[in-house]
Amino acid sequence: MKPIEWLGNRLKIIDQTQLPGKLAFVELGDYTEVVAAIKVLKVRGAPAIGVAAAYGIALGAQNIKADNKAKFLSQLDKILLAFSAARPTAVNLFRAIDRMKKVAAAADVTAIKQALIDEAKAIHAEEEAAQERLSRLGAELIKDGFTVLTHCNTGSLATAGYGTALGVIKAAHKQGKKIEVIATETRPLLQGARLTAWELMQDNIPVTLITDSMAGYFMSRGKVNCVIVGADRIAANGDTANKIGTYTLAVLAKENDVPFYVAAPTSTIDLSLSSGDQIPIEERNPEEVTTIGGVSVAPKGVVAANPAFDVTPHKYITAIITEKGVFRKPYLGSLKNLLRG
Ligand code: MRU
Repeated sequence: MKPIEWLGNRLKIIDQTQLPGKLAFVELGDYTEVVAAIKVLKVRGAPAIGVAAAYGIALGAQNIKADNKAKFLSQLDKILLAFSAARPTAVNLFRAIDRMKKVAAAADVTAIKQALIDEAKAIHAEEEAAQERLSRLGAELIKDGFTVLTHCNTGSLATAGYGTALGVIKAAHKQGKKIEVIATETRPLLQGARLTAWELMQDNIPVTLITDSMAGYFMSRGKVNCVIVGADRIAANGDTANKIGTYTLAVLAKENDVPFYVAAPTSTIDLSLSSGDQIPIEERNPEEVTTIGGVSVAPKGVVAANPAFDVTPHKYITAIITEKGVFRKPYLGSLKNLLRG
């Protein structure tokens, strides 16, 4: 399965909003369609957003008509701006935009278009390699017979590669360990129910779906050996923004002596932020809360809130699993050294 594929002059993606009912591929021929796909979560998950944006920028650049570099870069800036407004929390998006901008600035005007395609491919390939490595490293933490609880969706769909938290689970399963997964449904948009359950079933990994509010019950009964989640942005001190509900799981894990792991490529670490309270949190349309699958589940006119992410303070995180190693507290310093090295 290729959730994101560059076709030379179009970008092919799986429309994740249609899963699990339909595995629908769509081909996007204009960068504005890629921006829109990111906004409505046809493509989602921090690493996948970064990869899609990189290809989307390359796509937009192909249609730029400019006879000198200044004109080219000014038109490219409009494209970069559109992507930077797509979603605010996943830092992978901004890292991809920065990389594409730097490559354009360094290239000769006649070579910019190809240089941008090459850079998007490089970002994609680096993500794939990082995920495979962090999955292997993380799998060492999963023992035979473990039941692992995970939140949201962090598999191939979310990453355009092997996965992060789900990659760790898949790698442990591949090693022959008997693993069971508890997947939280992940309201409001049900990434756990729709996507994680679907991905795990494709891979024949046993999965039990629960509602978000059942997690404490399962942890308090000793039915969870560890929690593994992904990340959208990790601050320099280890504070981690991830799908709304992650913080609740981390507190529950601490209360019940269950290890709580974050699995993410280093492209998700943002050393420019000293702590998690500086991470921008996306507020989405409250209609996502008052409806499920387009059907209203609340009284008409009710006020609803819809922050898409929360921040888990580093004190709740047992370890951060990256492709450069598994890091434990204190994160400040170790994460900085890691990215320097
Ligand atoms: O709103 P989404 O579906 O893009 O949120 C995704 C998550 O929160 C994931 O856990 C995170 O991006 C890590 S993906 C490997």
